[in-house]
Amino acid sequence: MEKKLKLGIIGLGTVGQGVVKVLSGMHDIEIVCVAVKNLSKKRDISVDSITDNPLDIVNNPDIDVIVEVAGGLEVFDLLKIAIRNKKHIVTANKELLARHGSELFDLARKNNVVIMYEAAVAGGIPLIYPIKTSLSANVFSEVAGILNGTTNYILTKMEEENLSYDECLLKAQQLGYAETNPKGDVEGFDAMYKIAILSNIVFNKRIDIGKIYHEGITNISSIDIKLADEFGYKIKLVAQAKKMCINQESDMLDIRVHPVLVSKNQSLADIKNATNAILLKGFPVGEVMFVGAGAGEFPTASSVVGDILTIKSEIKEKNKILPMTVCHHSEYAKQINIDDTVNCYYLRINAVNTPGTIGKIGLACGKFNINLSCILQKGVNDDRSATIIVITEECFEKDINLMIKDVEKTSEIKVLNRIRVM
Ligand SMILES: NC(=O)c1ccc[n+]([C@@H]2O[C@H](COP(=O)([O-])OP(=O)(O)OC[C@H]3O[C@@H](n4cnc5c(N)ncnc54)[C@H](OP(=O)(O)O)[C@@H]3O)[C@@H](O)[C@H]2O)c1
Repeated sequence: MEKKLKLGIIGLGTVGQGVVKVLSGMHDIEIVCVAVKNLSKKRDISVDSITDNPLDIVNNPDIDVIVEVAGGLEVFDLLKIAIRNKKHIVTANKELLARHGSELFDLARKNNVVIMYEAAVAGGIPLIYPIKTSLSANVFSEVAGILNGTTNYILTKMEEENLSYDECLLKAQQLGYAETNPKGDVEGFDAMYKIAILSNIVFNKRIDIGKIYHEGITNISSIDIKLADEFGYKIKLVAQAKKMCINQESDMLDIRVHPVLVSKNQSLADIKNATNAILLKGFPVGEVMFVGAGAGEFPTASSVVGDILTIKSEIKEKNKILPMTVCHHSEYAKQINIDDTVNCYYLRINAVNTPGTIGKIGLACGKFNINLSCILQKGVNDDRSATIIVITEECFEKDINLMIKDVEKTSEIKVLNRIRVM
């Protein structure tokens, strides 16, 4: 009879429960034990063996694979023990991989085990394994996507129902899309961890997350969404990584997360609600886009169980893990500072409606070599102030910042928002 693959699972929350349910019909896989934090918590499902001491699991000699679906950084030490005990790891933990992936992958290589992490980026969308296998012939130049479902849901609702950011955040919390403390999602941390992991495999370099620029959606107002719409754009939180050549230094990486105005005729503009989408550009494939559920019990369990089955088939076939699943690179990427990036910008300006105001804005742009693509005053408000929208051509981030400082020297002009245009 075929040997069963024996699992130890750490975590029985949203993802852990989905994994246990999906595995329940698979008789060649045995869940030896599940670890949780709080044994007395009421749960919808039961498992044969449960503990609140995950050390029992990582040190259990019967277990082949540790499935870590607990989250957070507390599990870092546990996974190191598991790897030293020669256990393969399946994890959904983006923060852990983005912060400590290098150490874990080095340790895994030394111990001849693999770390599989399909669920850590874009939940149910198969991405990591296809990039490492089916797309391995490619040299990639860019990866960009909507990697956080919560923020995409909030932006979609703001646009479709003309609601404020706070109202949409509350809706997202009521539906379980956003946590009570939404900081990780709305301030761009979650998308930053995911683009770090993606950049790592797409560009075969290690990534320093301390050097990734990230900005969330808390400054986006329904006025910006409405104005963007009038100009032919949608506002999306986009995570992107691009290969650049700067000052004759090639292979620099421009990695960042921030809201952008996406032209309505680009495919990312059509991604609504909690859906995720990732666009890859490379040679020879050209452009390829992955779209699907970026989170949720079953979509995420689909990726976790897929990883478990990949390990099972590899162990069965050759008792050796597919070399493509192992991390081979150890060199860090050279990452560009946001000040040195080049972008087009949308500026929403509030100004006292006096003669020469538009001229002052134009002069400040000229002073820093910024060409305008569009400048438009939206009437005059009752208090004699005016909303002026500026869209620039491509210019350096450091120059637009200097221009804003310069134009705001006069108390009559205030730049209320500045959003990059994709
Ligand atoms: N939710 C999603 O849709 C989704 C999508 C993609 C990736 N992920 C990732 O998947 C992981 C799990 O997410 P989740 O939404 O399932 O979280 P969750 O619902 O909060 O569940 C976490 C589970 O881990 C247990 N746990 C926490 N710390 C533990 C520890 N030190 N030792 C043992 N057990 C511990 C908790 O125990 P108690 O039940 O006793 O509290 C709980 O069962 C995270 O890394 C997350 O980023 C989630």
